[in-house]
Amino acid sequence: MSQAVLEIEDLQVEFPTKRGVIRAVNCVNLALDESEKLGLVGESGSGKSMTLLTLLRLTPHPGRITSGAIRYKGRNLLNLESREMRLLRGKELAMIFQDPMTTLNPVYKVGEQIQESLKVHNVFAGTSGAFWKRARRTAERRRIYELMAEVGIPSPVERFEAYPHEFSGGMQQRAVIAIALACNPNVLLADEPTTALDVTVQAQIMNLLDRINAERKTAVILVTHDLSLAAEFCDRIAVMYAGKVVELGRVDQITADPKHPYTIGLINALPRLRYGKGRPLEPIPGEVDLANLPPGCAFTDRCSRAMAQCRDNVPRKTVLGSGREVLCHLFSEDR
Ligand SMILES: Nc1ncnc2c1ncn2[C@@H]1O[C@H](COP(=O)(O)OP(=O)(O)OP(=O)(O)O)[C@@H](O)[C@H]1O
Ligand SMILES: [Mg+2]
Repeated sequence: MSQAVLEIEDLQVEFPTKRGVIRAVNCVNLALDESEKLGLVGESGSGKSMTLLTLLRLTPHPGRITSGAIRYKGRNLLNLESREMRLLRGKELAMIFQDPMTTLNPVYKVGEQIQESLKVHNVFAGTSGAFWKRARRTAERRRIYELMAEVGIPSPVERFEAYPHEFSGGMQQRAVIAIALACNPNVLLADEPTTALDVTVQAQIMNLLDRINAERKTAVILVTHDLSLAAEFCDRIAVMYAGKVVELGRVDQITADPKHPYTIGLINALPRLRYGKGRPLEPIPGEVDLANLPPGCAFTDRCSRAMAQCRDNVPRKTVLGSGREVLCHLFSEDR
């Protein structure tokens, strides 16, 4: 069995709001294996981005991590000094955001921004002196051109000098991926990396991420609201609902035999992966309101299979074998 590179244990993130405290991430447990591709899927507001940002200790204000641990290669990131965490970001764990312009600065050349990422982490730091300085500069340039070529940016020497607005959306996202790869991270956290792109460019970017994963053995967490995209790209899928992982399993298990009514709902809302073909598409009724959840299972009011105990009793995780997990009273032993 492969070893976990990243382990999230009982992670909880809260936001104080006028309507009370919201648990955006509510007791999340996940392990990412070396060179694994894990999908984090769920509708808007389910806590996917907050989970990713919290892994890098970038939880936005006024959010607070109230409990849990994030172990990277055995170290709990929540105990690291800010300085240590800064060194780790980018170098070990790198993030790709949905909108490339969140990462790219419009006033700097694309090549310079990749260069900056190498500099921040001192990839080419070394002995001083004019000779070494020149040698370092040449090596650094070569590395940037290599990175640009690796992510599929044509004519890297010319494109080094271009500004982000001279790149198409797909090329901008490739540049962002080059920045993320500059320090050869072990883990890539990709938050809706293709949502802003049209479908053909989306396929190219997903193929690129796939190739990086295969060639560099970089583990990837892909956050998406699109279950079919996750099913195509990932090895395993974690389905999130109202801050919790409600179902976890291998892609084939989740798509062929979904257990949680929410997962079934997500699949039935998809044209291609519909569970039980021949049925019409069925959107999941209602919406989630984190400030006003039932005391038991958060999905109760939208669940077609809700039972008497669902509203008041919090479901416990049931392990179904072969690493499958589900958080639903339908599967708990004390049912
Ligand atoms: N600044 C904030 N103040 C209060 N609550 C917040 C804040 N930011 C996020 N939240 C809460 O955290 C929850 C999770 O947000 P998150 O961004 O992780 O959702 P998501 O699953 O990434 O959704 P999307 O698909 O729309 O990106 C939201 O439902 C929201 O209630
Ligand atoms: Mg999000």
